[in-house]
Amino acid sequence: MAKKVLITGGGGFIGIELAKNLAAKGLQVRLFDLDFTRYDELCSRLGNCPKVEKVQGSVLDTAQVSNAVKGCEYVVHLAAMLGVGRTEKKRMECLNINILGTINVLEACVKEKAKKILLSSSSEIFGEVSGAPVKEDSPKQPISVYAVTKLAGEEYLKAYEARYGLKYSIVRFFNVYGPGQVAQFVMPRFIKNVSEGRSPIVHGEGSQIRAFCFVEDAAEGAVKALLSEAGDNETFNIGNDKEPITMKDLAEKVIAISGKNLKLEFVSMIESDRKPEREIQRRIPCIDKAKSVLGYEPKVSLEQGIKKVMDINYIVDTWLENS
Ligand SMILES: NC(=O)c1ccc[n+]([C@@H]2O[C@H](COP(=O)([O-])OP(=O)(O)OC[C@H]3O[C@@H](n4cnc5c(N)ncnc54)[C@H](O)[C@@H]3O)[C@@H](O)[C@H]2O)c1
Repeated sequence: MAKKVLITGGGGFIGIELAKNLAAKGLQVRLFDLDFTRYDELCSRLGNCPKVEKVQGSVLDTAQVSNAVKGCEYVVHLAAMLGVGRTEKKRMECLNINILGTINVLEACVKEKAKKILLSSSSEIFGEVSGAPVKEDSPKQPISVYAVTKLAGEEYLKAYEARYGLKYSIVRFFNVYGPGQVAQFVMPRFIKNVSEGRSPIVHGEGSQIRAFCFVEDAAEGAVKALLSEAGDNETFNIGNDKEPITMKDLAEKVIAISGKNLKLEFVSMIESDRKPEREIQRRIPCIDKAKSVLGYEPKVSLEQGIKKVMDINYIVDTWLENS
């Protein structure tokens, strides 16, 4: 019988891609989320919805989580409150969903005898890292509540492995983008503005540097970590290091790909809702470990990825109130 995998937060934009990937590899996929509106809409636009079981519930409800984990060999834990600005405003909710929610999922894994859990952690845990691309063992200097919750989640996975022998993989995603994303992040915000004929708004001088990873590549990296024994009890950076870009150049690139006649609009950090002290100037992943241990290789170029997001034309403004 096919192995069963649960994806918490499976209704989100990375969850959908993981569901497609795992189903294509022959696994039975069960999704667990507060809501599947975004999932249903995106699946119909993508035109190749995988066959999945959908379970509605919250990671804060222990009985719902246990029921969802029951019968699953693997658990992919994506459910989280994210968005650095939003999570700073809703600190307690963020701590609850991201830390207590993770503990609930771990407890359910032990109770229901799941074999392995994968956690989606974040590049945010590194904070500001000057110079070279960030390695897995680079110093951790989180500067947001969200980043601290992600780091805490990582430590809980290690503790449950040591105590109960529950295998884990941790993937730290670096700036993943794709269709169905919430427009609170720079890439979908630029694409949404430009697609609707408005100027992309650049904060500050737009000198911040990021390296973006298309969601299909990120999902493939996570699946490789989950399904391979080489990924057991290991932590990987998952991103795309090929085309680091400043925010100003990214905004120009999005305009160029759209073919529209638009100009950049600059807004000072003070006028925007961004806090200069929380701005991370430069973040590029070193993905050598994922390449050598998992055979991970991101394939989608920035231009191809941006075109795909424009073609699917589905970027939602914000999250549900309580997610
Ligand atoms: N997008 C990125 O670049 C990025 C970078 C680093 C880490 N991550 C991590 O990847 C994971 C997936 O993120 P995403 O970008 O797909 O975001 P997303 O917002 O699209 O997906 C998160 C999902 O979690 C669900 N959720 C929230 N609270 C829940 C709860 N209490 N119970 C059940 N489900 C709940 C939401 O409804 C949503 O569908 C998150 O853990 C996030 O922290 C993403």
